[in-house]
Amino acid sequence: MSSYIIEGGRRLEGNVNISGSKNASLPIMAASVLNGGITKLYNVPPIRDTQMMIEILKELGCKVKRTNKKIEIDSSNINKFSISENLMREMRSSVILAGAILGKYRKATFTYPGGCDIGTRPIDLHLKSFEKLGIKINENYGNIICDCDKIIGTKIDLDFPSVGATENIILASCLADGTTIINNAAREPEIIDLQEFLNKMGAKVRGAGTDIIEIQGVKKLKDVSYNIMPDRIETGTFLCAGAITGGNVKVMNVVPSHIVPVISKLEEANCKINVGKDYIELNAPKKLKSIDIKTMPYPGFPTDMQSIFVALLSTAKGTSIVVENIFENRYKYVQELSRMGARITVEGKTAIIKGTKKITGTNVKATDLRGGAAMIIEALVAKGVTRIEEIKYILRGYCNIDEKLRKIGAKIYKQD
Ligand code: UD1
Repeated sequence: MSSYIIEGGRRLEGNVNISGSKNASLPIMAASVLNGGITKLYNVPPIRDTQMMIEILKELGCKVKRTNKKIEIDSSNINKFSISENLMREMRSSVILAGAILGKYRKATFTYPGGCDIGTRPIDLHLKSFEKLGIKINENYGNIICDCDKIIGTKIDLDFPSVGATENIILASCLADGTTIINNAAREPEIIDLQEFLNKMGAKVRGAGTDIIEIQGVKKLKDVSYNIMPDRIETGTFLCAGAITGGNVKVMNVVPSHIVPVISKLEEANCKINVGKDYIELNAPKKLKSIDIKTMPYPGFPTDMQSIFVALLSTAKGTSIVVENIFENRYKYVQELSRMGARITVEGKTAIIKGTKKITGTNVKATDLRGGAAMIIEALVAKGVTRIEEIKYILRGYCNIDEKLRKIGAKIYKQD
């Protein structure tokens, strides 16, 4: 069982290269099923979740070659249309494959997905949307069995702008008969990346980045190569690592417009930010100021940055209030931060954080991907040594986070 050992109290300074986006890579990898041919992807982060997606694609019959950040997928010989339960349990994004397999083969069998334990995370919006597209769904002993003769384009009004449901509808509709229109679609940048990838493959998708997306079905898709966008959550995480240590950190190869609310909140906390075309430089004050945050669907403050900001604010001057509006159970990590001396109380969706100077190193356990990242941020300022166990969650989404932090002055080691 691997751990990170972190000796806190070092000011971070230097440049960090940001990897490709996990949340853009996963649906795009799933979309490779649609062309029944060759997909070459660049800038895919070598992390556990992208490796899991490769395992699932292989199980379906794809040939996959991976060399560091490049992946080549050959989907011309898919011979299985079901995703096994153990792979579904490993990763929530596996549900995205349902839309892709259905879109191409009109049949798919899967189970309820797993992933980080940050709430109930139902898939009712995905299933309701599939039904609207003419797909028949039967649930049998925990299996969700979908099939249809054809997928027929239609109008779908989402009750909530779910990222995964929006992506699944797009994937299921690319090769449909007629046009699908999604109202109240999620507007995340990863959906724009998916649209650009699909259009390069020959699909006709437009409107991503707005709340109305139109997918005109086409007959056939072609081979494609594509460069994945930078990871906006990794970007924000390294800015916070700089901020909590009173440091000076420059994140490189990023799209600053993707994290506007994160930049504004760091400025509100008294950090100086200099934004370039593809970099963001942060200069932190000696003491951060408390701020209030509410998570919202994009372009609001991202829920994936919530835990990392809670850790950041635990050392700020004054009391901060954070409201989590997307996932109902996203404060599990708080008890681990409390073990390190953070003064945080949670009442329903709200966390009240009283800044303190007395953060100390101890043994903690990562509870989920971003909760684990929050523990790293906290450990960077803790007095003494912190051991973070269960880092398998962190490895799901961060590429070489220990090596990247060491390069800018942190004392962090991985122990297997
Ligand atoms: C994606 C991201 C995740 C991020 C989240 C919100 C990926 C791989 N993951 O997750 O990192 O935290 O967006 O920005 O891209 N919901 C339903 N029914 C559904 C689907 C969703 O009630 O059928 C609810 C969820 O329980 C949650 C909210 O909608 O409360 C948002 O979920 P959604 O946008 O679907 O998130 P994911 O796509 O799972």
